[in-house]
Amino acid sequence: MLSEPSSRTVQIRLDDGGATLIEGAATARLHPNWLRDQSTESGQIEPTNRQRLFTPLDIPADLTITAAELRGAELVATFSDGHVARFELDSIRRRVGWIEDPEAPPSPEPWTEPLDDFPYVDWSGIGWGVGDADEQAVLDYLTAFFRHGYVVFRNTPTEPDTVRRVANRLGYIVGQNFGWVFDVRTEPDPTDLAYTSIGLLAHTDQPYRRPVPGIQLLHCLANEAPGGDSTLVDGLAAAGAIAAAEPDLHAALASTEVIYPYDMGTDTVVNHGHILEYDRRGRFLRMMFNTKLDSPVFRSGIDLDAWYAGRRWLVGWLNDPSHQVTFRLEPGDLMFMDNHRVLHGRTAFDPSRGGRHLQGCYIEHDGPDTMYRLAVRSRRARLSG
Ligand SMILES: [Fe+2]
Repeated sequence: MLSEPSSRTVQIRLDDGGATLIEGAATARLHPNWLRDQSTESGQIEPTNRQRLFTPLDIPADLTITAAELRGAELVATFSDGHVARFELDSIRRRVGWIEDPEAPPSPEPWTEPLDDFPYVDWSGIGWGVGDADEQAVLDYLTAFFRHGYVVFRNTPTEPDTVRRVANRLGYIVGQNFGWVFDVRTEPDPTDLAYTSIGLLAHTDQPYRRPVPGIQLLHCLANEAPGGDSTLVDGLAAAGAIAAAEPDLHAALASTEVIYPYDMGTDTVVNHGHILEYDRRGRFLRMMFNTKLDSPVFRSGIDLDAWYAGRRWLVGWLNDPSHQVTFRLEPGDLMFMDNHRVLHGRTAFDPSRGGRHLQGCYIEHDGPDTMYRLAVRSRRARLSG
């Protein structure tokens, strides 16, 4: 819930060189350097990019706040270097975590079974540029993606290379060892098991790359062969499930370093990571799950029983049909999934009885993040103006 800004309920007092902001039972001590760094007064930041024009060496090491008061919706502070700065009180309240960032994308919501409504998004609402876009359709697509980690766009063109155009509309295409755009179809000398007709267990793509690709796009040009259905499953939900059911196995997967090599002779890359990765505050960062090529990094005396049991547990959970959503891509459909969270797979197909041709590529998370923030900013500006 966003709380209404009200300077009447907020107080500030000087506190040992800094200042303490008080709102009800909440207090936040503002370090003098921290507050000084937030100054947007003339000469402090470049007005276009809002980056700081002063360096840490321009600020006295013994900087203090010498005066601070609230004036309406502003905090006005004077510093010992003589600088006087006015701050929007809400921006300070947002920075200290008292109110939400209105531009922050929605939080992920784990799912352990197919969603009630499959998240199809009609491409006509997204369009090829901001001018073509339906703002609500864009926000709806992004909200679904951030919550659940995937959407499927419908009614994109059925021409080759469409995936590249879509990627560059939604973010910036990133190259990788297969090139910019890769073709998923059966090949005589496959550079990946994806380029055969065998079924694929749930996996994340390319854990061997640095950085691991953030978002995968798969565009369907033809899907006439029997079989070849797509599957998706939520790695975030799987991580929660194993943490609850088997905490020791979960701990092994989160703490055991894993090596992910890819070696085609002429093309070789290696990355290290963990099957489950969390940030220092314990928030889920990503899953790196590809049992075609992972191995724990060997260390003398290492006990791998829990790691192998945990990996096996996850293979079972992730490939349980009740946890997966299974669907068929039709020409013009484009699957858009968070490769750090949602795992994908497919059922086997019979290439002798019809063609199956997908084109894929990757973008990073910045694309949807930026698109969401700008859409919210634009809407807020319009509604307030
Ligand atoms: Fe894949």
